[in-house]
Amino acid sequence: MWRMKDPIRHKLPETRWPTAREAEDSLLFSPIRIGETLLEHRTWVPAMVPWRATEEGFVTRNILDWYGRFAAGRPAAIVVEATGIRDIPSGPLLRIGHDRFIPGLKELVETVRRESEGHTRLFIQIIDFLAVKRRPEKEKFFDRFLIITESHRRALSEATSDERWLAADESSIRAFLNSAPDSMIDLVLNEREIESLRYGYRERVTDVGLPHIQELPSVLPDYFANAAARARTAGFDGVELHYAHAYTMAGFLSARNDRSDGYGGARENRVRLPLEVYRAIRNKVGIDFVVGVRFLGDEVISGGSRIDDAVFFGIEFARTGFDYLSISKGGKFEDASQPKVGHAVYPYTGQSGYECMPTVWSDERGPFGRNVPLAAAIKHAVNLAGFSQPVIASGGIATFEQAEGILRREEADIVASARQSLADPDWFRRVLAGRGAEIRRCEFTNYCEGLDQMHKQVTCKLWDRLRLDEASVSKSQDGRRRLVAPS
Ligand SMILES: Cc1cc2nc3c(=O)[nH]c(=O)nc-3n(C[C@H](O)[C@H](O)[C@H](O)COP(=O)(O)O)c2cc1C
Ligand code: SF4
Repeated sequence: MWRMKDPIRHKLPETRWPTAREAEDSLLFSPIRIGETLLEHRTWVPAMVPWRATEEGFVTRNILDWYGRFAAGRPAAIVVEATGIRDIPSGPLLRIGHDRFIPGLKELVETVRRESEGHTRLFIQIIDFLAVKRRPEKEKFFDRFLIITESHRRALSEATSDERWLAADESSIRAFLNSAPDSMIDLVLNEREIESLRYGYRERVTDVGLPHIQELPSVLPDYFANAAARARTAGFDGVELHYAHAYTMAGFLSARNDRSDGYGGARENRVRLPLEVYRAIRNKVGIDFVVGVRFLGDEVISGGSRIDDAVFFGIEFARTGFDYLSISKGGKFEDASQPKVGHAVYPYTGQSGYECMPTVWSDERGPFGRNVPLAAAIKHAVNLAGFSQPVIASGGIATFEQAEGILRREEADIVASARQSLADPDWFRRVLAGRGAEIRRCEFTNYCEGLDQMHKQVTCKLWDRLRLDEASVSKSQDGRRRLVAPS
């Protein structure tokens, strides 16, 4: 498992909270336009998967409570968690791949409107992802999953200096490999097979030998466009296209994408499908519906895209018409830790995962505002190219002073806070009321992210054991934790 070398435990930054008057006069609490939509402020709750949908991907009471609770704190905008655009099973993650999901999503929109008294704009993050299987038991892998080929036979006969393997029957090859030491397996299996054995099978956008991967450029624009149209019907103010982290569209943007069909290689080719998806959506939803994008300022993996790629993508996104650019960092499978047998690889475990959700155990720079320079570089380049769409920064931003400083220095136009909003969904209102000293401050130790990793309902350690005996409180499946912050 990746560990930062000699981490230092950082203290939460000392901060002075503004008076109500100062807050009211601040940039943070000044309005901003996104496309045709006006945000009351520059406060933003970015997407966070809470593991509360049904197994079939429908909105539940717990989902309504989760978003209703954020809305009660009246951020200017909330982005609903990554929501699958296909009509395929994906566990308790929200889905928008069929019209049957619309009524539940409509209720979600109504809940946010009601709880925020109309103050919060609501976007939904739409996502496509490829297959990721759990790490198999060794026996199962060699018995059932591995396809024995001529190259295995050749490698085996070379590694053992025994030519009989060239004509051996499959079952004896499987039995031999199953009891072979890792050093022998390393000689016989190729890199992808070793990965499938030790981490679980995982598809990439570059697996063009698989017809369903080859055809992604021809099917994804429609999947995304239909999902966006459903979001519009359900009453959302817009969609955010998930082009970040470990998922399909980030795979196309990645510098590791070497597809040779015009959708890989040079940056111009890697951005082609992401732009085609945008155009398909725009044709379907019109110009008065927000279409934003979340993408990576840096992939933080070897051979991955860096800030110069991200600057290029940012300008192309702005030129093509995206209404906002939300910048994240890392969160990739490529450097993730090895999962236990029976578990799936989790993209927030390696260094790239650390950079996505940095904790107080950090290097000299610390976690606070750590990723702002990426957003700043993209914003400056986009503005210099003559575009003015808002750029959103995120990552360890949890005080008024930080947020206001970022806006004043023109490093971003909007400031997103995920974990701080989870720790205290009322923190925006408290700041605005001049009661910042009462804010429950996120400790950035990632208990919430640990729950996400285990696919457990996400809560915050600062409040999930409080007032558990309240009559109306809804609890986690094990009954030990409350599911939303006390009011
Ligand atoms: C539990 C949890 C779930 C998350 N789910 C998503 C997601 O669905 N989509 C996404 O783009 N980012 C997701 N993120 C990342 C956050 O949006 C955010 O970028 C990250 O936590 C860093 O911001 P912060 O320091 O304000 O928490 C998630 C973060 C957490 C803690
Ligand atoms: S669990 Fe920890 S890191 Fe997550 S929101 Fe709460 S205090 Fe912050």
